[in-house]
Amino acid sequence: MRSLLFVPADSEKKLAKGLDSGADAVILDLEDSVVAERKAAAREAALAFLRQHAPRAQRPRLVVRVNALDTGLTDADLDAVVAGRPDAILLPKAEGGASVIHLDAKLTAREAIHGLPEGAIKVIALATETATALFVCGTYRDASPRLSGITWGAEDLSAELGAETNRDARGQFTSPYMLARNLSLAAASSARVQAIDTVYADFRNIEGLRAEAEEARRDGFTAKMAIHPAQVAIINAVFTVTREAVETARAVVAAFAADPTAGVVAIGGVMYDRPHLTRAQRLLARVNDAGTS
Ligand code: COA
Ligand code: MG
Repeated sequence: MRSLLFVPADSEKKLAKGLDSGADAVILDLEDSVVAERKAAAREAALAFLRQHAPRAQRPRLVVRVNALDTGLTDADLDAVVAGRPDAILLPKAEGGASVIHLDAKLTAREAIHGLPEGAIKVIALATETATALFVCGTYRDASPRLSGITWGAEDLSAELGAETNRDARGQFTSPYMLARNLSLAAASSARVQAIDTVYADFRNIEGLRAEAEEARRDGFTAKMAIHPAQVAIINAVFTVTREAVETARAVVAAFAADPTAGVVAIGGVMYDRPHLTRAQRLLARVNDAGTS
């Protein structure tokens, strides 16, 4: 999964566009992009959309962003959408592994009610939206086998911190948000799940998006969320593993396989040691998962 496109779930037109956008996942949003009076309508629209599209073979992954656990709205969100068997729930304002365990229990009950296999619905945590969340980024590991990705957000966090802005004059995130980003990356790595970069809100600025996505890839993120269909192709291009990277990874794996007692090998005049082997194996696993090479 390289790109995940947010779509306000109460917009039928955008839902249809999201499906055809080329995004690897569509996030049906029930949270911030839907006002309180439209939550009920958005839940109904999300369920209808899931019922129509989840059974199809060729489709993007379908993720639902529910409202946060402390809003009192999460149960009604799940009551509505689990019957449509989304691939995953995106949990906003997650505060560490405890939040994921909490959501896991809610999902388990509803999977039983709807006759779905236990664990069918995965969880992606939005791990940096509150100040408290930053201090528990290290608690996701082993929280639940449902956890499949961790991402981060700067908007709610800047509101909570009382910041005037979260980007500087050049459009780069300021230091508190780089901390949040970096913690989410470490959280994902520690939990052995996919690290997903946050949205780039300035959706007409394609070069800015590309630069931010490339920096994310450089640092270990393997996907990025989008808010506009025009962002999807760039994100997909940046996060598609190149043929050269796959070939290098295969060569590293083969060299270590050929000499199982070696701690270090040389390929084409370059040294590779065990951490390179781990990286190569992870890259190949990702390619196999996505079918994108
Ligand atoms: N998903 C699907 N379709 C979208 C879309 C999205 N996220 N964003 C825009 N579109 C559609 C528009 O409806 C429009 O369709 P049309 O040509 O048939 O009228 C087309 O793409 C072009 O959109 P554009 O005019 O460039 O933007 P806009 O002013 O209509 O929308 C936003 C701008 C920001 C309101 C819109 O991109 C959006 O709703 N984004 C998602 C917001 C969200 O979910 N936020 C929560 C997470 S941070
Ligand atoms: Mg938010």
